[in-house]
Amino acid sequence: MEFNNILVEIDANIAFITIDRPQKLNALNIDTIEELHEAFKSLNNNKNVKVIIITGSGEKAFVAGADISEFAHFSVLEGAELAREGQYKLFDFIENLETPVIAAINGFALGGGLELAMAAHFRVASSNAKMGLPEVSLGVIPGYGGTQRLPQLVGKGKAMELIMTAGMITADEAKDWGLVNYVVTQEELLSFCETLAQKIARNSSVAITAAIKSVNANFTNGVNGYNVEIENFGKSFGTNDFKEGTTAFLEKRRPNFE
Ligand code: COA
Repeated sequence: MEFNNILVEIDANIAFITIDRPQKLNALNIDTIEELHEAFKSLNNNKNVKVIIITGSGEKAFVAGADISEFAHFSVLEGAELAREGQYKLFDFIENLETPVIAAINGFALGGGLELAMAAHFRVASSNAKMGLPEVSLGVIPGYGGTQRLPQLVGKGKAMELIMTAGMITADEAKDWGLVNYVVTQEELLSFCETLAQKIARNSSVAITAAIKSVNANFTNGVNGYNVEIENFGKSFGTNDFKEGTTAFLEKRRPNFE
């Protein structure tokens, strides 16, 4: 698929996806969501790619939200469909991806932009970044998982406040809240994320996928996360990576995972 709204690069075993609509502060229109879906799917199927880093083009914004101009005239049914399709194709898709995804938040992450960052497995922000869910100021609510993932990450009270006030928090506040793991300068952002990605890439991809599934199970309705962990723990014993990892430890050498 040819992309018009995103850039995809692969450097060794780390992939970078850059949302590239800087003139619209990288707002997520339907075409961009479609392209992101295809890019994540194909990178996830590429066995050489161990980690995916997602960021925004330009110095101002990660993503300033869903594209307001696209949904301003939607009906009730169209609104529900927009949220359903978006969650299915992008937000839930990323959260449940087998390949780890890091969000490198390089500026405004608002509405769908913060929801996109929250769907990633963890987040790093540049010091100029600002985050919020301003949807209620537009007469709508977060529809790409924001009412669910924000309370998971920061607790119910802080999530309620951020959503109700439609306010923005700084990168440092987001770190205090546990929404982002690190704050670095904008110049350092991608290389910092790449260093984290390299650390992840040294470990067993098979085990990391099983860990993602087990952690996510805690947040899935009707699923007992402890049971999912037991099952995935057991399955690990049947993998080549387990044999290699434990053998390498006992032989006092670095593992060489397939
Ligand atoms: N949807 C569509 N277009 C958007 C957008 C969005 N979510 N966010 C920004 N843009 C567009 C603006 O319309 C403007 O386009 P134009 O130059 O054709 O008029 C361009 O991006 C630059 O944005 P602008 O508002 O001029 O920049 P700013 O520096 O004055 O303000 C923000 C930056 C992020 C505070 C402001 O753009 C904003 O509030 N955006 C909407 C955030 C939002 O409510 N997101 C949730 C959507 S559900």
